[in-house]
Amino acid sequence: MNELQSRKNEALAAIASADNADAVEALRVEALGKQGWISQLLKTLGAMTPEERQERAPAIQAARGEVADAIAARKQALEAAALDRRLASETLDLTLPAPETPSGSVHPVSQVMDELAEIFADLGFSVATGPEIEDDWHNFTALNMAETHPARAMHDTFYFPDRDGAGNRMLLRTHTSPVQIRSMMKEGAPIRIIAPGRVYRSDSDATHTPMFHQIEGLVIDRDIHLGHLKWTLETFLKAFFEREDIVLRLRPSYFPFTEPSVEVDVGWQDVKGRRVLGGDGDAPGHGWMELLGSGMVNARVIEFAGLDPAEWQGFAFGVGVDRLAMLKYGMDDLRAFFDGDRRWLTHYGFSAFDQPTLSGGVGARA
Ligand code: PHE
Repeated sequence: MNELQSRKNEALAAIASADNADAVEALRVEALGKQGWISQLLKTLGAMTPEERQERAPAIQAARGEVADAIAARKQALEAAALDRRLASETLDLTLPAPETPSGSVHPVSQVMDELAEIFADLGFSVATGPEIEDDWHNFTALNMAETHPARAMHDTFYFPDRDGAGNRMLLRTHTSPVQIRSMMKEGAPIRIIAPGRVYRSDSDATHTPMFHQIEGLVIDRDIHLGHLKWTLETFLKAFFEREDIVLRLRPSYFPFTEPSVEVDVGWQDVKGRRVLGGDGDAPGHGWMELLGSGMVNARVIEFAGLDPAEWQGFAFGVGVDRLAMLKYGMDDLRAFFDGDRRWLTHYGFSAFDQPTLSGGVGARA
């Protein structure tokens, strides 16, 4: 009996001074494991006479309970101490002020795309997207450019290798116009969408990069005419450049997917040697700048997209987003847009907190 007492006290002392989880576990196995000394003692109860058992069992059971409780308590104490140590070493003071200048900025292209989405959302347009790796049919054929069409040659297309040997080469879309086809096929009519995104052409100088950004506009409904196109473009450009004196000049042009096609010029004026958009381009000291392509959607394109051109018609336009950004925010080299130079981004980037809203004037303050 005394031997049980002293072994138990020894075990309790060892448990109390164990300084890590492994040591506690070793002590548990030593006492309570299958071969542990308390487990062995419990096994001896079976061979005892009932009187003997009645006398010895309570002390053994009590020893087992005490040791088990001590082990559980010690484990918990060690875990709590470990947590305290971690909390003490990993300090994060949430009351510290943020760095004075946030280091990221919004790229002018993203800023302008946000501004455009805001303006067109207000006019009831939703934003549509399409793949940048496009097939020949959506990029050309369905836009009324058959395989032999000379306009295909003007697009300086990047083609992928001819995998299936059948001549069905995929390509990097040369404009956002294939989204017209995809949207009409998916949504049917009436439809009012803009489609901003990346486009690719094999071309590179101060005003051309192999990848650039366009935004496509498409309206299909009943009884849509050129007047709707002109009003929409005027409203959009006035909101975008934030001036009421934006004057448009529509010139006859040619695109295979629009008929009639209209090239749109915007009047500019000389302000201290800089061309600033606004005013009548025919006035002295003023001029016209070509800005975008547009027209009434060709009946063949409406047919290709699965709609009946006798019932549905509409207009489309396409404009360079990078060019819009350059004109509004005064950059002069397009290539710098895609260099990823931090100095340029710091200078021309916008605050992430400056969200375009129509009520606030859509442009960025900075
Ligand atoms: N897709 C034409 C281009 O890239 C622009 C355009 C779009 C013209 C829609 C007319 C209508 O040049």
